[in-house]
Amino acid sequence: MPVAELHPFVLHFAVALLLAAPLCDSLGLLLRREPLLYAGRWNTLLGAGAAVVSVITGLAAEAALGPHSAAGGALLELHRALGYVMVAVWVPVAVWRALSKLALPQRARTLYLTVAFVGAAIALVQAGLGSALVYRHGVGLSSTARAEPTPHSTTRIPMDKTVH
Ligand code: HEM
Repeated sequence: MPVAELHPFVLHFAVALLLAAPLCDSLGLLLRREPLLYAGRWNTLLGAGAAVVSVITGLAAEAALGPHSAAGGALLELHRALGYVMVAVWVPVAVWRALSKLALPQRARTLYLTVAFVGAAIALVQAGLGSALVYRHGVGLSSTARAEPTPHSTTRIPMDKTVH
């Protein structure tokens, strides 16, 4: 499978893991449950890795794109920029999480969780932008997939007419 086609596959791991990560960490701290803190740490590390791979596959997908509308192109610019922001937030957070104690030092917890929740919100917005790219503007779809249905296929036969 070409790298460009891996984008939809990889990005779902990034979104799911990075949304779950701060939730697991917050619950782990609130309920004092170590397994939740381990889940938070692993979700953060794997999710940040998946975000980096999403950017790489996203750039490959962009390079392989066919013609698309100006509106789709403008949204793609925003999507690319937010992809870089997402990685710029999550990679340092992941390094911090990898190097800190499992339960995070008490004084750093609020700052850490704030940045992680902001990162999760960015991942959510980025997923929304990506979906709008494909499902509203048809970016990444083949020309056949983007084709309008022919009038013939949408013609309805009135109920009171008999077809011979
Ligand atoms: C430099 C960064 C990125 C670029 C250039 C980029 C580019 C693209 C392109 C060209 C598409 C159209 C569909 C395709 O060809 O696969 C797309 C779709 C999408 N992207 Fe990205 N992307 C980037 C990063 C990300 C990241 C980090 C996420 C994770 C949240 C993401 C989420 C999505 C989603 C949800 C779709 C819709 C996929 C679908 O439902 O088929 N993108 N992106």
